[in-house]
Amino acid sequence: MVLKSVNKLKGQLKVPADKSISHRSVMFGSLAEGHTEISDCLLSADCMSTISCFKKLGIEINVDKEKGHVDVYGKGLHGLTSPSGILDTGNSGTTTRLISGILSGQSFSSTLSGDESLNTRPMKRIITPLSMMGADIKSKNGNDCAPLIINPSKLKGIAYTSPLSSAQVKSAIILAGLYADGETSVTEPYLSRNHTELMLKGFGAEITSENKTATIKPEPKLVGQNITVPGDISSAAYFIAAGLIIPGSEILIKNVGINETRAGILRVCENMGAEIVYLDPKNISGEPVCDLFIKSQPLKGSVIEGEIIPALIDEIPIIAVMAAFAEGQTIIKDAADLKAKESDRIYTTVTNLKKMGADITATDDGMIINGTGALKGAALDSFADHRIAMSMAVAALAAEGTTDIENADCVNISYPNFYKDLLSLTK
Ligand code: S3P
Repeated sequence: MVLKSVNKLKGQLKVPADKSISHRSVMFGSLAEGHTEISDCLLSADCMSTISCFKKLGIEINVDKEKGHVDVYGKGLHGLTSPSGILDTGNSGTTTRLISGILSGQSFSSTLSGDESLNTRPMKRIITPLSMMGADIKSKNGNDCAPLIINPSKLKGIAYTSPLSSAQVKSAIILAGLYADGETSVTEPYLSRNHTELMLKGFGAEITSENKTATIKPEPKLVGQNITVPGDISSAAYFIAAGLIIPGSEILIKNVGINETRAGILRVCENMGAEIVYLDPKNISGEPVCDLFIKSQPLKGSVIEGEIIPALIDEIPIIAVMAAFAEGQTIIKDAADLKAKESDRIYTTVTNLKKMGADITATDDGMIINGTGALKGAALDSFADHRIAMSMAVAALAAEGTTDIENADCVNISYPNFYKDLLSLTK
C-alpha cells in the first residue's frame, strides 16, 4: 500500500463496531437460550473466526454482511455439541482464549488452532488458571501455545489472583466459572476492559464487580438479547491521532464507545494537551457512546504507565506515532505485554518509526520517544499486524513524502474498510 503525505483531513465517519463486544455478543448469544439479535456487529476476519467456531459447535448463526446484522439461535449453557474437526481461531487471541474457558466446561473434547501468529502467542496465562479449576487443557506441542486440546472434566470455582491485567484471561476464567461447582472470582493488578462483566450480566448471569475483582456464580440461565454494538474506540484511535497531528484537520468521529476501561487514549490525548469535544452522549446496550470532534493541535510529550495501560493497550502503536509529532519526550512503561500481541508491538512499532526518522528507543516494557515534530516517508512492514498497518498508515499521511507499507491488507482483521475511510477524509 503506497500512501502520500496529505495537507489536511476533513469530514466525518462512523467507525466500525467494537471488536471485543462483537466477539462477546456472538459467544454469549450462543450460550443463551433463544434468539440473540446483534445489530451493527463487526464482521471482520477475527469476528468471523468466532462465528465459524460456534457454528461448528452446533449453533445456528445467520449473518447479513451488508447490514452487519447477526442472528444467533442459542441453545443454552449446555447446548453446544461436539465439533467435527479442529476449531480454527484464525488470528484471534480473543476467540482462542475466551472459547477455551467455555470449552473447558463441556462434556466433549475439542482442539483449537489458529494461524502462524496465533499459534506462537502465549496460552500459559489461561492454561494455568483453567487447570487450577480442574480443566483438562493442554498445549499440543508442549510449548504453552495453541494448538490446544481440551478434554471434558469437572470444574471447581476458584479465587484467582491474576499476575496480568488481561481481559482475555479474566474472561476465560469467568466463562469457565459458568460451569464450575461454586463461585469463581478473578482479581487483576489493574482493571482490564469489562465488557464480559457488563454483557454477561445483561444476559442474566449473576456477576459482580468490586474494584479489581469480578465474581460469577455458576449455572445461570442466560436469555437471548437484542444487542447493538457501539463503535470501536480502538478503530477510532487512528482518526483521533490523524486529526490531531495533520495540520488543518477537522474530523467528526461518530458513535464511539467510550467505556472507561477502554478510553485511555482520550485521557492520554488530553494529557498531551489536546482538547477533544464530546458530542451527543448516549448509552447503547449498556455501554457509553458519543461522537468525538477532533481538530489538529499541538501536542506535548507525556508519561504513560501503570493503571492506564490496560485501557489503551491496543492504542500504543498509534500513541507512539502521536508522540513522534509532539514536543518533548513521551515515555511508555508497564506495557511488556505488547510483545505478546499479533506482533511484538514494541519491536514492530519502534522498527517502523525509526525507518521514518523518529527518535524512538525500545525498552523492556515500552518505549521512549523524543518528539521531532516530523517524520519522513519510508518502506515499512506491517508484520501482518492490523494495528501496526493502521498506525503506520496514519504516520504515512502525516509524514513528508511517500510511504510503502508491505502486508497492508491485514487491516481485514479488525477494520476491512480502513483505507477507504481514511482516504475519504483527504478529498
Ligand atoms: C481483548 C483484550 C486485550 C486486547 C485485545 C482484545 C478482549 O487483550 O489487546 O485486542 O477483547 O478481551 P489482553 O486481554 O490479552 O490484554
